[in-house]
Amino acid sequence: MPKKKLYIETYGCQMNISDSEIVGSIMADANYEATENIKEADVIFVNTCSIRDNAEQRVRARLREFKSLKKKKPELVIGLLGCMAERLKDKLLIEEPHVTVIAGPDAYRDLPKLMTYVEEGQKAVNILLSSSETYEDIEPIRLDHNGVSAFISIMRGCENYCSYCVVPYTRGKERSRNPQTIIDEATDLFAKGYREVTLLGQNVNSYSWETEEDVFNFAGLIEKVAQIDPLLRVRFATSHPKDLSDELIDMIARYPNICKAIHLPVQSGSTRMLAKMNRKYDRTWYLGRIEAIKNRIPDSTISTDIIAGFCTETEEDHQETMSLMKEVGFDLAYMFKYSERPDTAAAKRFPDDVQEEVKGRRLQEIIDLQQQLSLESNRRDVGQRFEVLVEGFSKRSNKFLFGRTSQNKVAVFEARDFKPGDYVNVTVTDCTPATLISKVVEDISVSE
Ligand code: 5AD
Ligand code: SF4
Repeated sequence: MPKKKLYIETYGCQMNISDSEIVGSIMADANYEATENIKEADVIFVNTCSIRDNAEQRVRARLREFKSLKKKKPELVIGLLGCMAERLKDKLLIEEPHVTVIAGPDAYRDLPKLMTYVEEGQKAVNILLSSSETYEDIEPIRLDHNGVSAFISIMRGCENYCSYCVVPYTRGKERSRNPQTIIDEATDLFAKGYREVTLLGQNVNSYSWETEEDVFNFAGLIEKVAQIDPLLRVRFATSHPKDLSDELIDMIARYPNICKAIHLPVQSGSTRMLAKMNRKYDRTWYLGRIEAIKNRIPDSTISTDIIAGFCTETEEDHQETMSLMKEVGFDLAYMFKYSERPDTAAAKRFPDDVQEEVKGRRLQEIIDLQQQLSLESNRRDVGQRFEVLVEGFSKRSNKFLFGRTSQNKVAVFEARDFKPGDYVNVTVTDCTPATLISKVVEDISVSE
């Protein structure tokens, strides 16, 4: 039978990118071949995000565009996957009548079966959440094609119930994947030429795998992955400050190939806000974790997530966020306006009472400050030497390559005959807020 063509469009977090690769693999076994050309697609899957209202609005706009595609090609199947599917359930079938497949994050194994229903002219929905599904036996197809860096999902779900967050409702209970399957996947990627893996989970530090003899935690897991080969870089995301142990910090310090870049979402610098957000730590605790990182891994970058204008946030609370940002000196931050999500604890219990323009102004102040901090961080790197893993040609010109430092900063440098997957030593000569401009160190450039 000729293969059908599947086009997958992914919104939201890295976990969704990883999930799309799992979906691609499940569908490949059912005779669907991934395509990057939407025009030739028999099936379009949109893997969606519900974290903020604007993420959902973007998907809605895209679905309207697909409507015209379907008019031209009535046999085209449009499926909605991921967090929006889970949150809105079969309501979506009514609101978006051209969508005929709805599958939540734990229902992807069922997709081939759902497709057979659709072929018979029915609509098909599976939004069951699971307490055990980790897709651990599925070898994801790699949709990114750079061939250097890949995501490995190591756990799913979240039970932290931060009061603003929809994820515990859309992704269900926290569960960890069998460590051997993770190590096997990373080993296989290395053998195929990959040089960097990012271990993914909503809260990787609470990774836990119990056997009869002992309990395997995230520090133990990352060590095993780092030991696969010194040329395999290991990254991870995301960590919750409450679970960032000294053991893990020491492990990152010990292995040169565990990247010196820690993403530690703070959300707010105000202890009052943090309590309302149900983050389970306060400002002092967070700053203590930062101090521990700086003491043990002085060359590590630290990045964060910040929410502006959460329920009842005052100007003082906002100033506490600004002062914490300066105190830590974040190298990078993802910054958002609070967006109330239906059914979360915050939506039920607290008024979304910070005026839109106040939220906007506070967010802008946070962004402006971060821009300054990021530039300062990059300026500190000027004159320093870094090992860069080459990912590809720079966007601007084929005369330049780009790659990342262990600290997760993008560096560009003269292309020469390096290729993706090579490690190159560079010295930083100049910078922008987002890029390190650098030159190749002549004497010791290593390419494998
Ligand atoms: N509104 C705004 N930002 C949010 N985030 C999570 N939920 C919301 C929300 N309701 C942000 C947090 C989280 C990041 C992934 O998204 O900062 O760390
Ligand atoms: Fe959401 Fe908090 Fe879980 Fe992160 S840790 S996914 S912010 S509930």
